[in-house]
Amino acid sequence: MSEVVAYTRQGSIGVISVNYPPVNALSHAVRTGLVAALKQGQNDVEVDTLLLVCEGRTFIAGADIREFGKLPKDPSLPDVINAYEKSDKPIVAAIHGTALGGGLELALGCDYRVALKSAKLGFPEVKLGLIPGAGGTQRLPRLVGAYKALEMITSGDFISAEDALAQGIIDFIGDDDAIHITGLAYAQKLSKENSPVRRVRDINHKIEIDKESDVFDQFRAKLEKKSRGLFSPFKCVDAIEAAFTLSFTDGLKRERELFKECMESFQRDGLIHSFFAEREASKVKGLSKNTPIREIKRVGIIGAGTMGGGIAMNFANIGIPTTIVDVQQEALKHGIEVIRRNYDSSAKKGGLTVEQVEERMRLINTSLSYEALYDVDLVIEAVFENMAIKKEIFSKLDEVCKPGTILATNTSTLNIDEIASATQRPEDVVGMHFFSPANVMKLVENVRGTKTSDEVKATVMAVARKINKVGVMVGNCYGFVGNRMLHQRGTEAIALVNEGATPQQVDKVLTDFGFPMGQFAMSDLAGIDVGYRIRKERRNAGEMVPIGWLDKLAEQGRFGQKTQAGVYKYNAGSRVPFVDSEVEQLIEAFRKEQGIIPREITDQEILERCVYVMVNEGAKILEEGIADRSLDIDVVWIYGYGFPAYLGGPMFWAEQIGLNNILESVRGYSKTVGGKQWKPAQLLENLVAEGGKFKEL
Ligand SMILES: NC(=O)c1ccc[n+]([C@@H]2O[C@H](COP(=O)([O-])OP(=O)(O)OC[C@H]3O[C@@H](n4cnc5c(N)ncnc54)[C@H](O)[C@@H]3O)[C@@H](O)[C@H]2O)c1
Repeated sequence: MSEVVAYTRQGSIGVISVNYPPVNALSHAVRTGLVAALKQGQNDVEVDTLLLVCEGRTFIAGADIREFGKLPKDPSLPDVINAYEKSDKPIVAAIHGTALGGGLELALGCDYRVALKSAKLGFPEVKLGLIPGAGGTQRLPRLVGAYKALEMITSGDFISAEDALAQGIIDFIGDDDAIHITGLAYAQKLSKENSPVRRVRDINHKIEIDKESDVFDQFRAKLEKKSRGLFSPFKCVDAIEAAFTLSFTDGLKRERELFKECMESFQRDGLIHSFFAEREASKVKGLSKNTPIREIKRVGIIGAGTMGGGIAMNFANIGIPTTIVDVQQEALKHGIEVIRRNYDSSAKKGGLTVEQVEERMRLINTSLSYEALYDVDLVIEAVFENMAIKKEIFSKLDEVCKPGTILATNTSTLNIDEIASATQRPEDVVGMHFFSPANVMKLVENVRGTKTSDEVKATVMAVARKINKVGVMVGNCYGFVGNRMLHQRGTEAIALVNEGATPQQVDKVLTDFGFPMGQFAMSDLAGIDVGYRIRKERRNAGEMVPIGWLDKLAEQGRFGQKTQAGVYKYNAGSRVPFVDSEVEQLIEAFRKEQGIIPREITDQEILERCVYVMVNEGAKILEEGIADRSLDIDVVWIYGYGFPAYLGGPMFWAEQIGLNNILESVRGYSKTVGGKQWKPAQLLENLVAEGGKFKEL
């Protein structure tokens, strides 16, 4: 008998149990064991019904990631599942924990399915650039119909056992905590009733109902918006559609072909990198796994503006009481109104119940006094981007907060060490840089100061996880990782317009590349005044920061979406940008004033100058140790700025383009455009000279 799959007998039931920790992944050993155990069950004359169940914390949670990239060995998963489906004794799959990907496909190859209430089911393949390739796209729609199958398979999201029961994916939910008891009881019932096999492949009534429907085209249109640029969600639709237009056997063949197309797509490499990079980023280099983590039971937020309100929602969402402090009653009132509007809108879309909205609103309190924060465990400051104000606030927090409170700042650019110097406890000071809208965007760029303690670093990483965000630990410098690179892209984008491009041309190149929005649409969203104020601060501090056409827009009160006019203009209540001839005139006047004769600029130049400049800066960030690994930079860009995950993040993408090609262009722009952003990073030079890679550092 295989070590990882056992066969035992319990009366008339043959029990096949998988024991391959941690998640019973479908390794070669498990696949072989499954086939052997099935054969035993088939040959066992004492049993008339089989039960498939898993040991440990979960049912089979998918493919074995340790076998990724290796040559597949027989038996293949489709062979295993087809063998289970062919069994002449009915098989019950008993699900606890998570039945994911291949695990769920195997369960669908069984005749009956039961689950514990806490179980979750899903097809996450799409997130790795694939489609379910072992019959999932053909069997699931036979149980749930076209729409639900499309939704589940193209989103990759999990569903609850209750939902699965309602949809007909499972037949029964067990109350007992022990999956063996639930599974065995159900199998015994079937055995007693002489229940026959019930193969999913033969269930056809939902196929008949949806056969003529136009749901597939509708879904494709929906995906054009939601999954723009992605390859595999559309292949999922094609495969599911095949379940409605072809026989079961031909449908399986079609699924296989589409699966292979996905395997060969370049997007798969990018998505796999993104997936593992996210997991790796949670492990901070040099931080021991045993570092104690402080318990966060209450949170304080300073500033009820754009960021403060969104940040507060993250904590209320997981049941943590949060107090927002602001200096203006009006700001608090407005902040709370915005929070309520956001929650109400989620409730309207069905994401939250009215009770949940009220519960969350009850968890958010406001105050005009810092004293209200005397017993919080974590404070996140989110007031104007101004060093003097921030230092004053941190010195007050130092007075009022209990010992051990983590004092975090949401600053986008300012020096964490200088902010920490306003306190007597710099070891408790750290950056927690959220992205706008803070209740939505997944990234938290955690910034370590020179004196930040390991305990504080470990805690802020844990906090990010707890509020369902992706935390990345980075070092302290102007703009940290994300904004420092964005700043270089912004400088180039502005310069390209100076030289002759239009803002909409620059934006289009970036959205065609795969970014969710262009540089200037993004400035309008974030508020042109934010950057304007930062540049003004730098000028006040004596830095040479020339006044550009964007500053001139800000001086006219064109702050972006909030004033319905920025680089683009907007209709009231709408986020749809329109080109504004006034801006074109302003840019033209600016060029004249500067003596610039505009030239034709190619899309390729725009792409290189906007994205290569980021890669060059990323290499400097690595060289300086601001980011520990290139994957940290990739994760920041994927989750903070919507860099397409299928391209793997800027540093991964650069390696696909070829670091030598990037360096050659950087050297070229260093001559033609100039500026320190085009000075080639030493690291880039070294890697190209040695034939090395970022990820090998
Ligand atoms: N807006 C963004 O996209 C974004 C993204 C990431 C980080 N940030 C950073 O977050 C911080 C806040 O930005 P925002 O856009 O939310 O600003 P905002 O202008 O929307 O809100 C700032 C709030 O702070 C309050 N405030 C000012 N001084 C205060 C004080 N001494 N004590 C208490 N409250 C005070 C103001 O009344 C206002 O309500 C800044 O450091 C900014 O750089 C902003």
